[in-house]
Amino acid sequence: MSDRNNTHTAAEDSRNRDIKIFVNGEIVHRDEAKVSVYDSGFLLGDGMWEGLRLYNGRWAFFEEHMDRFFNSCKAVSIDVGLDEAGILDALNRTAAANDMHDDVHCRLMVTRGVKAKPFQHPSLSRSGPTLVIIMEYSKPAGELYSQGIRLATVPQVRGAPMAQDAKLNSHSKLNCVIACLQAEQVGADEALMLDPHGFVNTTNACNFFIVRRGEVWTSTGDYCMNGVTRQNVIDLCHANDIPVFAKNFSLYEAYGADEAFLTGTFGGQTPVAEIDGKPIGNGARPITTKIKSLYKELVQTNTCA
Ligand SMILES: Cc1ncc(COP(=O)(O)O)c(C=O)c1O
Repeated sequence: MSDRNNTHTAAEDSRNRDIKIFVNGEIVHRDEAKVSVYDSGFLLGDGMWEGLRLYNGRWAFFEEHMDRFFNSCKAVSIDVGLDEAGILDALNRTAAANDMHDDVHCRLMVTRGVKAKPFQHPSLSRSGPTLVIIMEYSKPAGELYSQGIRLATVPQVRGAPMAQDAKLNSHSKLNCVIACLQAEQVGADEALMLDPHGFVNTTNACNFFIVRRGEVWTSTGDYCMNGVTRQNVIDLCHANDIPVFAKNFSLYEAYGADEAFLTGTFGGQTPVAEIDGKPIGNGARPITTKIKSLYKELVQTNTCA
């Protein structure tokens, strides 16, 4: 395994050894937090999740995350058993039990629940959903921004929506995991994935942007996660007169970009140092830096108690 950074590299924090985890209404020490081996999430990857962040005791972009979460659950007929207010209460109870306030990453997960038999049919999940909330102290490693990420283009591509829609933030991330392994096998930190037509699409864990001649470009969005951070960056560009386009482009334009960066809830914006061994730009990142500072301001104003 690589000891380099990836986009989710965080500083070690010993407090995480004793965190408390929400499992179906109970909040227990991580050593006691368990789900059944018959759980739909374990057996099949049949569940949905969200990654959220807590800043100064408030949840960033809560509405946007809930919109995607409930939309994903509805799309695959998972009854969460709670509404948005119920989820907020569960998140806040978990934060309070841990006395957590800032630089916290949260994984909110719901699965179709425990199955009567270890087979695929959804009707075998009869006892209601499994809801788990893991919150950890987690601050992106400082070197991520200074060093940047090394990407490798991989053979694994994004699928079409009629196979497994990339907008479903499902527990099954095998497509992304395979891509990440392929990148690691060639010594890169993260995988740059193409769409089925060969256009540059996304990475295995983040959305992908390039900056070319003063313009910000990202993929059309047809084959990637509808990232909350991706949309925030697009909106910030519009609001601040930075030309931004969601369009098809190829590796030709990506290799020749002046800057490139990834977006995700964990790291906000993470610069890309190289793609397939080719350095991106000359190392100056004026537009990425500007967007990162605009995003930091946005986080302060878009939080929910
Ligand atoms: C494949 C993939 N792309 C992008 C993202 C980033 O999305 P967001 O900005 O909502 O964190 C995620 C996060 O879950 C992801 O799994």
